[in-house]
Amino acid sequence: MIIKNDVTDAIFQRQSIREYTEKKLTPEELETLMLAAKKAPSARNLQPCTVRFITNKAILDEMNADFKELVGYDTPAYSRYQTNPVYQNAPAMAMIFSENASKIDAGIMVENLAICAKGIGLDSVIILSIAPLFESPYGEKWKERLDVSENYVFDIAISIGNGDEKPPEKPRFDDRIKIIE
Ligand SMILES: Cc1cc2nc3c(=O)[nH]c(=O)nc-3n(C[C@H](O)[C@H](O)[C@H](O)COP(=O)(O)O)c2cc1C
Repeated sequence: MIIKNDVTDAIFQRQSIREYTEKKLTPEELETLMLAAKKAPSARNLQPCTVRFITNKAILDEMNADFKELVGYDTPAYSRYQTNPVYQNAPAMAMIFSENASKIDAGIMVENLAICAKGIGLDSVIILSIAPLFESPYGEKWKERLDVSENYVFDIAISIGNGDEKPPEKPRFDDRIKIIE
């Protein structure tokens, strides 16, 4: 029997969403997401991650233009979405950077954001494909633009907004998770 509550519902119902309405995040939604990022656990509580919530479409479009110039495509993930910008037209993208850290800390933080988003009625998609931007000459420009110190590296991003599609659920392997008694 699966135990159902608001938290498990958010976990079970989250899906990657790549179409969004133009509705912006409310200040309450943003504040809640920022607290979810802050509350993420980290190894030895070092809190190595720093996060930038970009809510300005002009900045996201400029970042996408640099990304496209660099790699020659918007996003390679799924052909259906190839006309979308790398941030998938969401009204906000949170970008996580860290200093000298295991990427596990950033991974935990991004999942906190994905589940929190679902829990407050929003949708999201985790974005790694933007990473080459920060490994290129554009990286310095964007770290400066986002007020991120030079010694931080980009780990992961997540686009968040009000979803505007209901894709079929992605299948999961049935034999990967076992109990050893
Ligand atoms: C580490 C990580 C990186 C990802 N990067 C991208 C990405 O760059 N672009 C994208 O469209 N989806 C990206 N995704 C979303 C995955 O494709 C998606 O989670 C997976 O297909 C399972 O689908 P679901 O999230 O709907 O369950 C990423 C997911 C993870 C966990």
